[in-house]
Parts: sequence; C-alpha cells; structure tokens
Amino acid sequence: MKFSCNMGGIGMEFFEVLRRRRSIRRFERRPVEREKLEKILEAAFLSPSSYNRRAWIFIVVDDPQLLDKLAESKAGAQGIRNAPLAIVVAVDEEIDDVWIEDGAIAAEHIQLAAFALGLSSFWVQIRKREHKRGVSAEEFVKELLRIPENYRVLCIVAVGYPAERKSPHGMDVMEWEKVRHNLFSQKF
Ligand SMILES: Cc1cc2nc3c(=O)[nH]c(=O)nc-3n(C[C@H](O)[C@H](O)[C@H](O)COP(=O)(O)O)c2cc1C
Repeated sequence: MKFSCNMGGIGMEFFEVLRRRRSIRRFERRPVEREKLEKILEAAFLSPSSYNRRAWIFIVVDDPQLLDKLAESKAGAQGIRNAPLAIVVAVDEEIDDVWIEDGAIAAEHIQLAAFALGLSSFWVQIRKREHKRGVSAEEFVKELLRIPENYRVLCIVAVGYPAERKSPHGMDVMEWEKVRHNLFSQKF
C-alpha cells in the first residue's frame, strides 16, 4: 500500500490508508527497518506548519529501558512498552505560538505514513496529562529525555508491526448531522 494522489482513482489508495488505520497498542518484537523509519520522518517533515516555522523536534526512542519508562509516563501509555520504537513530538513554543496545532499535524502525518508502510501506531497524549499527583506527564518526559525548557511535548507516537487486528472504519463514521450548510442551523 502506498500514498497516492492519483486523480484517475480519485485518491483511492489514500482513502484506504485513512479507513484502515486504527490505533494499535500491541506490537510484534520485530524492529522497524531504518528505511521505513526515515520515510516516516520524511512524512513528519512534509507537514504544513504555521508561517512554515517548522519548530518541531522528533525524538526517536528505541532504547528498551527508555521505552519502558515512557510507558509509565501516564495512564494509557502502557502499550509503548512492547513497541520497538516511539517518536516523541515536541515543538519550540518560543518560536511557535500555535505549537499544539503544528505538533498535532506532524503526529498525524507520522501515524498515516507508518500505516501506509505496513506498520501500526497509537498516539499517547502527553500535553495536559498527569504522570502522578503534582507531576505532569510533560515534566516526566522532559526530564527523562533531557528536553530543553522551551520545547513543549505534545504526544508520543508508538510505532511497530501490529500484533493485533482491528477492522477498518466503515461509512458509519459519517455523522451527517455534524455537517451544516452556510448557517449553523441548516442541514447539509
Ligand atoms: C489527541 C489524541 C490523544 C490520544 N491519546 C491517547 C492515549 O493517551 N492513549 C491511547 O491509548 N490512545 C490515545 N489516542 C488514540 C484514540 O483513543 C483513538 O485514536 C480513538 O479511540 C479512535 O480509534 P482509532 O485510532 O483506532 O480510529 C489519542 C488520540 C488522539 C487524537
């Protein structure tokens, strides 16, 4: 499966990626090939960003001890423990006032590219989450990976070969009542 913007097929391959990508939290032991990892990072760097500021930092973590620690960053991060790698998405807030948006777009590019390359992933929210009482998940991750003060950690994307299967999304995702026409009060 590969990304395509083939007008003849009206981007069908791209929509296959969108439909079939699911959050996977159990991974095979097998490592991710360097070539695939570089393609995933290329996808991240292809992200649009406000004023083209490109203020991101992507920290590729594949050290098993660090992955174990990241899995403890907050509730809902445990799946990182069995992932062969995780990409921490951080953005320099000193040069990017909309760092959340810019980081989120890059994280989603990572997820879609990983899936298009036969891998799976899940997003671990770090911003606004708690590690333990009085310590934010962001503080925990920043200290663990020695991330400078000016960088804000948005999320971690765990990546690997899937060890669980999930069915693709179907047309039931379409909630037409959430689409309006011209005025909020008008149905589409
Ligand atoms: C902003 C955001 C935060 C998320 N945080 C977590 C998380 O901390 N842990 C987790 O296991 N999944 C997390 N997810 C994954 C969602 O639970 C998942 O995308 C959603 O349930 C839809 O399922 P799907 O990805 O299989 O389509 C997050 C997703 C987003 C977009």
